[in-house]
Amino acid sequence: MTLSAQSLTKRYGAAPGYAAVRDASLELRRGEFISIVGRSGSGKSTLMAMLGALTRPTEGRLLLDGTDVWALSETQRATFRARQIGFVFQFPSLLSNLTAADNVAVPALLGRTMAAEDAYARARDLLARVGLADRMDAYPGSMSGGEQRRVAVARALINAPPLLLADEPTSDLDEDTEGDIIDLLEELQRTESFGFVLVTHDLELAQRAERSFEMRQGMLAARERPQLEAAPPRRAMAARLDGARAAPQPRAPVRLGESLWRGVKIFLPAAAAIFAAILAVDVGVEKYQAMRLRERAGRVAALQHLALNSLRGDVQSVTDLGDGRYELTTYLQNVGGDRIYVMAPQMRAYVQVASLWQEVPMTPGDEGAAGVTKIEGKQTYRYRFDARVRDFAQLLPNYMHVRFSGSMLVSPSSAPNGDVFERKDNYYVYLKPFDVADDVVLKRMRFSGKPPVWIPMPPH
Ligand SMILES: Nc1ncnc2c1ncn2[C@@H]1O[C@H](COP(=O)(O)OP(=O)(O)OP(=O)(O)O)[C@@H](O)[C@H]1O
Ligand SMILES: [Mg+2]
Repeated sequence: MTLSAQSLTKRYGAAPGYAAVRDASLELRRGEFISIVGRSGSGKSTLMAMLGALTRPTEGRLLLDGTDVWALSETQRATFRARQIGFVFQFPSLLSNLTAADNVAVPALLGRTMAAEDAYARARDLLARVGLADRMDAYPGSMSGGEQRRVAVARALINAPPLLLADEPTSDLDEDTEGDIIDLLEELQRTESFGFVLVTHDLELAQRAERSFEMRQGMLAARERPQLEAAPPRRAMAARLDGARAAPQPRAPVRLGESLWRGVKIFLPAAAAIFAAILAVDVGVEKYQAMRLRERAGRVAALQHLALNSLRGDVQSVTDLGDGRYELTTYLQNVGGDRIYVMAPQMRAYVQVASLWQEVPMTPGDEGAAGVTKIEGKQTYRYRFDARVRDFAQLLPNYMHVRFSGSMLVSPSSAPNGDVFERKDNYYVYLKPFDVADDVVLKRMRFSGKPPVWIPMPPH
């Protein structure tokens, strides 16, 4: 595998636009480790998004083994991304309603790169390798930041990509945990031998790479080759800087307090400059974060629109199987014509007893429950449930009041990179209990024929 970035430029805004990255070129082979450092806003993430084929460069080309990635169709590019590139972002963005093992398996399930059993086998293997053998069934909410990051690392490697891009994967972790995660990434790189690009603000971590680059105002430049001696880089650097200065002269005796005042005189302008710089950085970061938030809000709104407006769902039918067992059929319909993928739909059933909802056993039918489905036209799902409940509330005489609660993950992509929306639905129906004879029902209510098994209720 060779990734070749040729003169990548990215401009934002109306032409000529603001160049976040200018003329960046880079070659990366399988098994190589490259690091990129640079100040906030210097264009590191923009470059990474271009290297990962997430953002189309305004100018320049991205070739993988000679194939121009942006000459591929969108579907081909999505497949290419799913198979060739693993991403670890600054925040782990795990799906909170899925276990660690599910989260790791998701890209393989959504990208259909392997059978579900194989995906879970590899997910478990990777989780064991990142030291989470006993946390496979934990939910992200109950995991520490470092553990969540390990899950994200395992997730990035599920499809055994030849290229791993990590954009400040540890910046919100404490120093020890940060070191552990980078150790882990290096170890995995040795065993899986992927090409590895690491963006970091930590010069010490950056030194571990075979080649190191620095971004400055959108320009990528090679940094001096890291020193080969094993001395701890930070101290070594400080020592070298000191050594570079003129050798200290023997000092003349000074009056007590003199150096203090001199120190203050030197310090004051320096402090002012540092303070101004901190302010400038802060304002920059704040502006940048506000933009990120807006971007994120925009993406979430688009996803929400897709998940809620383009996808219609409802109860299609409920049939009485006898003995208090019923079959529920629901449907999902793509009414917007957009590309929609649905993952892990789940359904639960509740019967109202007094003012409480009592859950009743429900199992999915054969089809529909598995993996990921592209919703084109109408897709139906079947579930069986058991509604042998005593003392149910009767909003309609003799009928049970039943709630079906569904949840599912919706995405416009079969290989989403975090662009997943969790949709929840509640459907309400009146359901005729199996042990009440039709003539008993008919004594209290009128129907044109036999009393129906179920009566839909408006959403409430
Ligand atoms: N979608 C966008 N639209 C407009 N400007 C953008 C967009 N994305 C990034 N920028 C701008 O491009 C520049 C580079 O941003 P980028 O996120 O690549 O920086 P970075 O080096 O990753 O910074 P950080 O260290 O803070 O993550 C910034 O000035 C940023 O405001
Ligand atoms: Mg960034």
